[in-house]
Amino acid sequence: MKNFTVIGGNASEELAKKIAKKIDAKYLKSDLRVFPDGEGKITIQGKPKKGKIIVVQSTYPPVDSNLIRALSLIAKAKQFSSNVIGVIPYFGYARQDREFLPGEIITMKVIAKIFKSLGLKKIIVVDIHSKIGLNFFNIPTKNVSAVPLLVKHFKKMKLKDLLVVSPDQGGVQRAKEFAKLLNTNYVALKKQRNRKTGKVQIKSSNLDEVKSKNLIIVDDMISTGGSIIKATEFLKKQKCKKIFVACTHALLREDAKKRIKKSGVSKIVSANTIPGSTAIVDISDIIAKAIV
Ligand code: R5P
Repeated sequence: MKNFTVIGGNASEELAKKIAKKIDAKYLKSDLRVFPDGEGKITIQGKPKKGKIIVVQSTYPPVDSNLIRALSLIAKAKQFSSNVIGVIPYFGYARQDREFLPGEIITMKVIAKIFKSLGLKKIIVVDIHSKIGLNFFNIPTKNVSAVPLLVKHFKKMKLKDLLVVSPDQGGVQRAKEFAKLLNTNYVALKKQRNRKTGKVQIKSSNLDEVKSKNLIIVDDMISTGGSIIKATEFLKKQKCKKIFVACTHALLREDAKKRIKKSGVSKIVSANTIPGSTAIVDISDIIAKAIV
């Protein structure tokens, strides 16, 4: 066994265990007790080995709670080692990387400063929404991609007449990479989001390319499902065949999964950065490789 210890936060226990196994590290569980006022109390079960400590904690909802838990775990790990790596597979707040409307706070920048102040050696994230956010950290960062593994899953499905679709222009690069690995083509829709209400609209005109094709809509994350549903409704009108969805982070808030299925999506496939029924693609291997 290497001189590594992996500490799993409450939000990423299963993934942390898998990572520990892959890098041959000691695994330490952390217990979480939430008091009636909402405060959490975390206790690490056992002592880390001397050497590198890897803290694994995604910051999906409750985002602020899981974030403070990630920071607390890192602060505790620093008491045992000067070599602490933070693995935040899903990084909440990554979409708040710029001032879209006057007066908005760039919260990602604030969070990055706090992470840096803890004295981390490195931070590893998976398909972070925007790379701009990574530059705020001012410490070594590594963004690993789940795309090749998502593609591998779809290859096994042996679907024919495939076309990859990005629901917006911001996801063009991702769709291009996905299509390249799948040996097929891609198109990107034009999505418009109302910055005040959050509502989305598809502004694309008719797309002949999607007719009679099986489509894979590729996105980095699904939250309310609004983007995927609007894209699906548009694509169905273009007389496509089946629609599948591939994403890294499936937040699927409230009844998003049900509404996405109802809109006509046959299957949603996501990575285990966020546990859940769609999280069938395991990314522990790529994280393990980024650690060692
Ligand atoms: C936006 O640019 C992102 O890539 C996702 O498309 C978006 O955050 C998904 O959110 P929702 O599911 O609420 O539309």
